[in-house]
Amino acid sequence: MHYKFPESFYFGASTSAHQVEGANRNDWTEWEHANARRLAQIARVSTGNTKRSAISDRHAFARNLTSGIANPLNPKNYISGLASDHYRRFNEDFDIAKSLGHNAHRFSIEWSRIEPEEGKWSERELAHYKEVIRALRARNLEPFVTLWHFTLPIWLAEKGGVLNPRFPYYFNRYAQKVAHALGADVHFWLTINEPEIYALNAYGRGSWPPGKEGLANYYRALTQMIGAHHKAYRTIRKHSLLSKVGVACNLSYFESAGGPVNAVIKRAAEELWNFHFLSRTTKSLDFIGLNYYFRNRVNYGLNKNPHHRVSDMGWDLHPEGIRPVLQGLAHFKKPIYVTENGLADAEDTHRPWFIEKTLHAIAEAMYHDNVDVRGYFYWSLLDNFEWDKGFWPRFGLVEVDYETFARKVRPSAETYKKIIKNGLVL
Ligand code: BGC
Repeated sequence: MHYKFPESFYFGASTSAHQVEGANRNDWTEWEHANARRLAQIARVSTGNTKRSAISDRHAFARNLTSGIANPLNPKNYISGLASDHYRRFNEDFDIAKSLGHNAHRFSIEWSRIEPEEGKWSERELAHYKEVIRALRARNLEPFVTLWHFTLPIWLAEKGGVLNPRFPYYFNRYAQKVAHALGADVHFWLTINEPEIYALNAYGRGSWPPGKEGLANYYRALTQMIGAHHKAYRTIRKHSLLSKVGVACNLSYFESAGGPVNAVIKRAAEELWNFHFLSRTTKSLDFIGLNYYFRNRVNYGLNKNPHHRVSDMGWDLHPEGIRPVLQGLAHFKKPIYVTENGLADAEDTHRPWFIEKTLHAIAEAMYHDNVDVRGYFYWSLLDNFEWDKGFWPRFGLVEVDYETFARKVRPSAETYKKIIKNGLVL
């Protein structure tokens, strides 16, 4: 059966400020300078490791060895610097998105630009984002605006970041400022990107700034973000009357290998990981943003994936897994936008297949399971700065040359464009 997505369906790609803009100054930039050598050293050790590691695909890895700054053994790989220079080139990038058939675009506002010092607001930077939104609207790309995607202003990081008891107040004050300035032009807001991933990496296992560890910190961080979300939801709705407000959560497909024990682990993992934040914020959600990347096979433990196909980062590629995740979200009875989905694939070998399979599974969830999905955003429009992995993982529909900042559209972007135009065969 030929399946066409509804006219009103949003198709686009996502980015985040710190990963693409360049020239930021926040808690991450400080951390990058302090950790670049150490991270390059870890990459050096893992290349000698024959077991599957963060840099698991030797082919992609070898290719990256020749490409200057995006070389995992080079400390510069871990310094965001000018990133993809999107701050200056957003018009060019939105022209590309438009030419690829997109009708929406998700991006984030950089808190450290808007409030570089506590309580001091930059009208110039607010005007910049106004300009960005205008550029999107001029191309009929619906803006989906994320308020906070992992990076903090330095003053707030110095006060303890998310664990500061006043964090919900600070976040709400920032949300108010932005919603007041931009609210008339934005209909879709996301308060926080992936609270569970942020809590885990920054406060649970300490691999991101501020490098705190422990279960108690992890839960405190999550609880603080839940409070912050509730406040910001009310504030944004007040300032931006026609807007819809959601959150982008990272959900896994937990697949049981069979038997009662695995079934129990699967259920617990879903409650603790997939639904923790959403169940506690459901009253303050107009829609759910779903970021789907992983299968997590449960076989007397988590992440026992078969690794038939993996990304350049060694992630198990299982696009079909998005369908059961969507089925699981249906009980919240909210519209769903897939706000991120993608893979690191420098050679663009798996990406066309991955995008097609994912959209196929989404269409099945909509068409056969009646799940209310209203949009899909591939991660990412551009190659960008992949946090503690730096520049070497290539997630973009569009390749970026980090020496010249030239953009080159990958073949998978054309596959995506064709699906947007013609739909799929189910
Ligand atoms: C994050 C992005 C990140 C992507 C790929 C998501 O967890 O929101 O910032 O680049 O996954 O790792």
